[in-house]
Amino acid sequence: MPDTLTIIDNRTGKQYELPIGYGVYPEYGSFIRGADLRQIKAGPDDFGLLSYDPAYMNTASCKSSITFIDGDRGILRYRGYPIEELAERSNFLEVAYLLLRGELPTAQQLERWTWEVTHHTFVHESIKKFMDGFHYDAHPMGALVGTVAALSTFYPEARNISDPEIRARQIVRLVAKMPTIAAFAYRHRVGMPYAYPDNDLSFAGNFLNMMFKTTELKYQPNPVLERVLNVLFILHADHEQNCSTSAMRNVGSSHADPYVCVAAAAAALYGPLHGGANEQVLRMLQEIGSVDRIPEYVRRVKAGEFRLMGFGHRVYKNYDPRARILRELAPQVFEVTGRNPLLDIAVELERIALEDDYFISRKLYPNVDFYSGIIYQAMGFPVDMFPVLFAIPRVAGWLAQWEEMLEDSEQRIARPRQVYTGADERHYVPLEERGA
Ligand code: ACO
Repeated sequence: MPDTLTIIDNRTGKQYELPIGYGVYPEYGSFIRGADLRQIKAGPDDFGLLSYDPAYMNTASCKSSITFIDGDRGILRYRGYPIEELAERSNFLEVAYLLLRGELPTAQQLERWTWEVTHHTFVHESIKKFMDGFHYDAHPMGALVGTVAALSTFYPEARNISDPEIRARQIVRLVAKMPTIAAFAYRHRVGMPYAYPDNDLSFAGNFLNMMFKTTELKYQPNPVLERVLNVLFILHADHEQNCSTSAMRNVGSSHADPYVCVAAAAAALYGPLHGGANEQVLRMLQEIGSVDRIPEYVRRVKAGEFRLMGFGHRVYKNYDPRARILRELAPQVFEVTGRNPLLDIAVELERIALEDDYFISRKLYPNVDFYSGIIYQAMGFPVDMFPVLFAIPRVAGWLAQWEEMLEDSEQRIARPRQVYTGADERHYVPLEERGA
């Protein structure tokens, strides 16, 4: 059987044969090329058939070898490695290397990579002045987006995106400086002096240091919380072609420098339907307030008044594997921090929702944001830092996807088509002739 698709255009009676392509798994990711549809025309002046796909519900925008998701089976793999194995056995910087370079590092490579990231965590002192310029109650995500974009002005060579060595340098800088900027945004918000990076600490440990250090000479991160933060960073490091990654690739396709691309991706992540969802989950659990008020809340969700935040996913139509890992991790955190009373509401809400036909029939399961917020809150992070915590590790995925896009000879500047639905040509009417 040939790997082709036969299309008959009933307007003309013409028949077309389009080749079918495949990814690694024939049963997952077979495709026809959108551009092949252009030959299908009703007449000589016809532009050719477009595929209309708002929100890219069924459009592959690229070929990628970074992350694999099988949403029906709840599978997530980075470069082939199951997320569960990486969460249990790896650490964030090793995972970042894996995403960016395609293979797990040797001991020597990991040492070098860790050294490089560790020694690029400082930001230019002028960044502090930037930060000071934000209003006292600025949302840290807004401060992060603005400040990462501003980094572009500090590293003008970053515009040379076709030089792999220059790209590599910006990648190290971005991975290393995101936690510093994130922590500075927080410290500004709460009116505390900025805490500088401590090169003796791990990536996650240093972030806790920059966030929470007060008068102690040397900050000692709690090893359990450091490990849990590492896992949270691993789980959030990449997620193939989601909204923010698509923003990264779209902006990057115009050959803008990586700092402004990351700022654009972080802006996409800020929205409540994406990285802002864990913030919304926490607010929702606080609004519910007690277990006995859950049924009434679920009734209102089902009536369409609002959505259950942290539930549902464009891709996962089975349990989000990241949510499962976090659900198991939560008790370890609470042993250190004390129990977060919102966990009881979350567990009960999940139980009720998963027994309800509304959620079952729509395949709505908890996503990664459902439990991450409860853990972050118990660790002492304020709610508006949640999307920032998401952005810190995701920068590794964004950059891996950005480089893959730049090296892909099939990619061009991203420029979708539209189906025009507006007025036909008409002529300008002077203001005085337009009537009331
Ligand atoms: N609560 C209640 N109903 C929901 C929810 C929800 N959280 N999510 C989807 N639905 C319903 C929709 O109303 C719709 O029902 P209908 O067919 O009767 O109209 C159906 O399920 C399908 O929903 P869509 O909006 O078509 O699903 P889509 O794939 O476009 O949306 C999304 C995915 C945005 C994640 C959605 O599920 C949602 O808004 N969830 C809440 C926000 C959230 O948790 N976002 C985090 C996503 S994970 C991440 O970014 C890391």
